[in-house]
Amino acid sequence: MCGIFTYYGHKNTAPELVIEGLKKLEYRGYDSWGIAYKTNDEIEIRKEIGKIGDIKVKDLDLKHSNIAIGHSRWATHGGVNKKNAHPHFTEEKDIALVHNGIFENYVEIKKYLEKKGHTFKSDTDTEVIAHLIEEHAKTHEFEDAVKLATQEIEGRYAIVVLNSSNETMIAARKGSPLILGVGHTEGEYFIASDIPAFLKYTNKVIYLDDNQMTVIKDGEAKFYDMEKHEEIEKRIVEIDWDEESAEMGDFAHFMIKEITEQKETLARAINQDPKIIEKVAKAIESAKGTYFVGCGTAGKVGMVGEYLFAKIAKKHTNFAFGSEFSNYKDFLTKDTLMICISQSGETADTLEAIEVAKEKGVKIVSIVNVETSTMARMSDIVVPIKAGPEKAVASTKATTSQLAILTLLAYACDGGVKKGQQELINAAGQINDMLNPRYEEHIMKIAEKIKEVESMYIIGRGANYPMALEAAIKLQEVSYIHAEGFAGGELKHGPIALITENTPVIALVANDDSKKEIISNATEIKARGGYIIGVAPENDDIFDFWIRVPDTQAVSPIVNIIPVQILAYQLAVLRKNDPDKPRNLAKSVTVK
Ligand code: G6P
Repeated sequence: MCGIFTYYGHKNTAPELVIEGLKKLEYRGYDSWGIAYKTNDEIEIRKEIGKIGDIKVKDLDLKHSNIAIGHSRWATHGGVNKKNAHPHFTEEKDIALVHNGIFENYVEIKKYLEKKGHTFKSDTDTEVIAHLIEEHAKTHEFEDAVKLATQEIEGRYAIVVLNSSNETMIAARKGSPLILGVGHTEGEYFIASDIPAFLKYTNKVIYLDDNQMTVIKDGEAKFYDMEKHEEIEKRIVEIDWDEESAEMGDFAHFMIKEITEQKETLARAINQDPKIIEKVAKAIESAKGTYFVGCGTAGKVGMVGEYLFAKIAKKHTNFAFGSEFSNYKDFLTKDTLMICISQSGETADTLEAIEVAKEKGVKIVSIVNVETSTMARMSDIVVPIKAGPEKAVASTKATTSQLAILTLLAYACDGGVKKGQQELINAAGQINDMLNPRYEEHIMKIAEKIKEVESMYIIGRGANYPMALEAAIKLQEVSYIHAEGFAGGELKHGPIALITENTPVIALVANDDSKKEIISNATEIKARGGYIIGVAPENDDIFDFWIRVPDTQAVSPIVNIIPVQILAYQLAVLRKNDPDKPRNLAKSVTVK
C-alpha cells in the first residue's frame, strides 16, 4: 500500500530513475504520485494526480540530480489531490519526506506543532512527520531529529527523508516494508517498498527490520537500532529473482501472465522440501488448536484450509481473518498454532494478528510468497510458496500455490504427503493441458455474453464454498460487476430472491459427494430463470454454459478457480478496466 522508491548515487538522472522505479511499484497504490530531488541548492518537488504508468519521463522537463525520493499513493488520510500527494516538505523546503503506513497520533502532534508556529498545507499525517523532524532539527543533529520523531510516531510506517542541506537520505521502518538495494558501483543505493522495483540495477539487498534506520550520507550507508540507540551491522542478501520474471514480457497484462504461469508455479509449490511440510504437519498434530489466518484472497485460502483438514486429515482447525483474529485471543495458549497465509507477507491486519498471538506464546507458521517479508521473519516456520513476483493486484498464481501447500499439509497430517504430492502433480499436469488459447477463447464466449450484467452469483459446497467467495472477489475487483459467493445450500434462505431472468450464476462443481447437491442447487436457480455457468469436470443438462475442468477430487478448489480468474480478467478487458490496477485497491495492504 503506497510505493516508495528512492535513489542516491553518482548518476545525475535520479529523478528519471525514481519515476521508472515507481512505475514498477504502481500496483501498491496509484491515485497520485510525486518525487522530490535535490538540485544545486534546493529541493524540487513534482506531484501529479493519476497513474504514474501513464507518464512519459521526457515530457516532464526534469533537472539533473543524483539524489531523489518518490512515492506512488493509495490515499488514507486526505482525499486524492495534489496537495495530499507525497513527498511532503517543510516550509524551508529543505526536508522532504515520503511515507507508507498510518501515523495514528498525528492529530495531537499536529496541534502541538501548530502552537509552535508550523503551518500545514495538506490533510495528511505524513506532512506532520516532516514538520516534527524540522522541529527537532532546531535543537538536534538531523539524524537524531529523525530518530526522535520516529519515537513519537504511533502506528505502522516506512519513511524516507531527504535533507538537501547536508545531502542526507534517511530511511526508517516499523511495520511497513522498506528494502535497501546496494548498487554495483560504490556509494550507490536504492530504497524501495519491494525488490522488483530495483532488480534492473542490483540483486544485492539489505532488509530493514522494524525499529531500524539507515542513514545514507557521504556515499555510505550506516544502520541503527532506533530502540537500543546503537549502530548495527546488516547483512547483504543476494536475490535470485531475475528481472524478467518481474516484467510483463509479451503479455498484455500481468494478471493474464500470472494466470498462465500457474502451470509452473504449481509445480514449484508441490516440489516443496517434504521436511518442511512434515515439520508443519507435526506442529499441527501436537498443537491444541490450529488457526488459519489471512486477509482477502489469502483469507479465502485459509477458509479452504479448514475444509481440507476436515475432509482429508479428519482434523478440526479454525479460521479467522487477520482483522478478526484478536476476538479469539482468550483461547490462545503456548500450545496453539497459527498458520498465516499471505502473498506479500506484509499485510498489516495479519501482522497484527501475529503480534496478538505472540503475546500468548503461540507458535507461528507462515505460508508466504515473499520469503524475506516481515511475516516470514516473525515466524517460527516459513513455508515458501515460490510463485515468483506477483504484480497484478488480483492474486492468482499465489492463491493456487497456497492452496497446493494446504492440500499437501492436510495429506501430511493424514500420513500421506506423497499421496498429496501425487494428486497435485496429476492436477498440475491437467492444468497444463487446460491453460491454452482455445480454453481462453471458450471462456471469452461467456465473457462476451455477460459483460453488461449488473450482478452475478457464484455457488459452491464444501471446499468450493470458500472458493465461491474467492471467485466473487476476483470478479468484483477487476470487472467491477456486483458478484457474490454463497454456499450452495444457503441460496434458498434468502439470496434466491435476487435471481431473475438470465441472472448469471456460476456453479463450482467437484466430482465428490457434494456434486448431487450443488447440481440440485443450480436446478433451483434455473427454475427461477437463472443462467447457469457450470465449472465442472462433466457437463450436465442443467448448465446453460459449461466450462470444463479436470476431475481432480481433493484438488478441485485449485482447478475450479482458474477459469474464474480467466473470466474475471476477460470481463475487465472487455469493460475497459485496468485488470492489473483496479480502482481503489492496492496489492499490499499495509494499513489496518
Ligand atoms: C489485498 C490484495 C489481495 C490480497 C490481500 C492479502 O487486498 O488486493 O489480492 O489477497 O491484500 O494480501 P497478502 O499479501 O497478505 O496475501
